[in-house]
Amino acid sequence: MAIQIRKLTKHIGAEISGIDITKPLDDAAFAPILDAFNENSVLVFHDQDLSDDQQVAFSQHFGALETTVQSNVGGGTYIANISNVDPETDKILPVDDWRIVYNSGNEMWHTDSSFKPVPALASLLTGREVPPEGAETEFGSMRAAYAVMSPEEQARLEGLIAVHDFTYSRGLVDPNLLNEEHRNETPPVHQAVVRTNPTNGKKSFYTASHASHIIGWPVEEGRAFLKDLVARATQPEFTYSHKWQAKDLVIWDNRCVLHRGRSWDKARYRRVMHRTTVAGDGPTAPPA
Ligand code: SIN
Repeated sequence: MAIQIRKLTKHIGAEISGIDITKPLDDAAFAPILDAFNENSVLVFHDQDLSDDQQVAFSQHFGALETTVQSNVGGGTYIANISNVDPETDKILPVDDWRIVYNSGNEMWHTDSSFKPVPALASLLTGREVPPEGAETEFGSMRAAYAVMSPEEQARLEGLIAVHDFTYSRGLVDPNLLNEEHRNETPPVHQAVVRTNPTNGKKSFYTASHASHIIGWPVEEGRAFLKDLVARATQPEFTYSHKWQAKDLVIWDNRCVLHRGRSWDKARYRRVMHRTTVAGDGPTAPPA
């Protein structure tokens, strides 16, 4: 049966219905989902009661999966557990627990794994338990913001390389969040400031909370420039805010979309989200 695609905003996001992705899919069934992903940058599915294994199996249609970085919340797994619930005790964690503080880094506008030499292609986030208010995930289209830039502004971006650094971005949350071993795992990397989707030739700028500065520019000037790009991509006309229902799956294109989680009453409501992350197909710039 053909899937239905309903655009959620003019520039970003589409809701997909008419498919049960808990079941194995063949390439023919996956192809229109991939097309919709490349076209709309964010895809929303409702009522998908996925187990972790099913989420991993579906995610692998997009490509090889990343494993999570080692940190004080663990690491080395396909599933990132973005949650305020202790998996050992099944109780809400105190709001000053390191795991909560660490995950609050996701409340800054970012694109997943831009601090890795090969940044992520796609992320797939499922709402296992969602609070009744707050905790939306917001998305901003770097592609749409790029498209409305003047030719002179676009030309200025061409060839620029930014340094993306997990120690820098998590340091904005708390300078002591990462220990030396974790910092050594994620040394700064280089990323192109302009990227092109190879399937449709659409260009986008590429920045994130992890983007520290621009190579060859004074650090503060580059930082302000990258911050301005974030502001452009997150203007209301280029954004979609997802209000979660349990069993939602949301997929986003990290090449051209910024996202951030919004806060909620973490002492009161449980929120358990599982994310899989699909690796990109190569570096975007020569290595650091
Ligand atoms: C993420 O940044 O990957 C998760 C966003 C969220 O928790 O809403």
